[in-house]
This record gives sequence, C-alpha cells and structure tokens, in this order.
Amino acid sequence: MNQIKTPLIVANWKMNGNQLLCRQFSETLECPANGEVWIAPPSLYLETLAVDKKLRNFVRVGVQNVYGKSSGAYTGEVAATMVRESGGTFAIVGHSERRTQFNESDSFIAQKFYASIEADLIPILCVGESLEEREAGLTYAVVEQQLTEVIDTSGIKYFHKSVVAYEPVWAIGTGKAASPVNAEEVHVHIRQVIAKYDDQFIPILYGGSVNENNVGELWEQHNIDGFLIGGASLNPHTLNSIIGEITR
Ligand code: PGA
Repeated sequence: MNQIKTPLIVANWKMNGNQLLCRQFSETLECPANGEVWIAPPSLYLETLAVDKKLRNFVRVGVQNVYGKSSGAYTGEVAATMVRESGGTFAIVGHSERRTQFNESDSFIAQKFYASIEADLIPILCVGESLEEREAGLTYAVVEQQLTEVIDTSGIKYFHKSVVAYEPVWAIGTGKAASPVNAEEVHVHIRQVIAKYDDQFIPILYGGSVNENNVGELWEQHNIDGFLIGGASLNPHTLNSIIGEITR
C-alpha cells in the first residue's frame, strides 16, 4: 500500500439512483480515514446530498455534466453557476458517454470546462481512447488531443484548478479494467503532456470497471491519484469497501 498518496474517490452514479439511494448513502457511507469522497448523482439529487446533515461534513457533491454558457435559451440545460448555487463544487466534463452518445466534441467540452472554472466549480476532465484507437496504437495521441484542446482554450493557469480522469472507453462498464501497468503508462503520458505547459501537480484519476478487488493494485501505481467509479459506486457498502482498501 502506498503510504504517501491520499486518494480522491469520485462516485459517478450516471442516470441511476433516487431519493431512497440518497438516504441509504446518508445512513451507510463512512467518512474515509484519509482522502476525499466526491459524489456526482443525477443533478436533481444534488441538493438532497449537499444539505444532508451527515454527508455534508465529509462529501463534496457535483454534477455529471454542465452547459458551456452562463444562461439563455438553451432548453433542458443546466449552467455551472446554478450547480454552484445548489451546493455543487465540481463538474465532470467530457465523459466518454457524452462524447459518443451526445456527440460532444473537444471544443464543446472545452467550453464546458471553462464555464465550470468561471463558476468556481472544479472540472473533472475525462479523457480516454476507444478500443479501435488503442489497437491502432493511438492511445497517447488521442488523450493528448483531448487534453490540449482544453488547455489551449482555458489556459494552463486555469487548467491547474482541475482534475483529470483517464477512462479508457473499452474499460467503462465492461468489467474489464485496464491493467495497473497500462493505466500507469497512460497516466505518466498525461503528466508529460501537462508538463509541456508547466509542471504544477494535477490529480489524475483512473476510471473504468474499478471495484473492491482491483482497486488495491491500481492504487499502488505511483501516478494514479484516485478513482472515478461508476457501477461499483451505486452501493454505499461497496463504496465503503473500495475506500477501505486504499485508506487502511
Ligand atoms: P464504471 O464507470 O466504473 O461502471 O466502469 C466508470 C465511469 O464511467 O466513470
């Protein structure tokens, strides 16, 4: 186990959960011995978790997506300022499900990233390659493109207020996590890309089929600073176990 790092664990509920799950989290989730726990429920449940008497003491709450404009005629969208006002402190941007199912481009994601920073939310920028891209040897090029589009739009000074999540698309929801060595290689590359601008530290999370069985060996990797967890984050007992594995 790593003695020095303290983990950042982000739960991405995706379009799952309800008020009952919010209550179960309040009753069951334990304050970690060290590190931080952030939860991104569907945005309608943001405030329920943000004002919860127990959770508000040790959990940050945020959203899975925001729009890139501050207000206006954008039916169905939510602005970063609204998230902030409702008690949210972070926003996931560029999740691969948004990129593929909702055709979000790198430049569109860069706007969301910038809007989050402007509203004082911490953006968690997701990057990662598809299986075809990995097999074609394009992993590094893909994550570099995804990162630089955002850094060039926001400026490196703003980028330092963010978190990056490496989420290989082929590992998300498949039960097939990246091997610790593969994940570490890409995390190192991500650090090198950011270091071309300057060398301030940014947390880099790994995401994709993380569970209580594989989290320990992933956590042993030097450049993995925490985890973005989907399916396994929906059960508060499982989340306690995952956190316990890396904070004991
Ligand atoms: P997963 O999802 O843990 O269910 O693979 C991770 C994510 O999409 O953030």
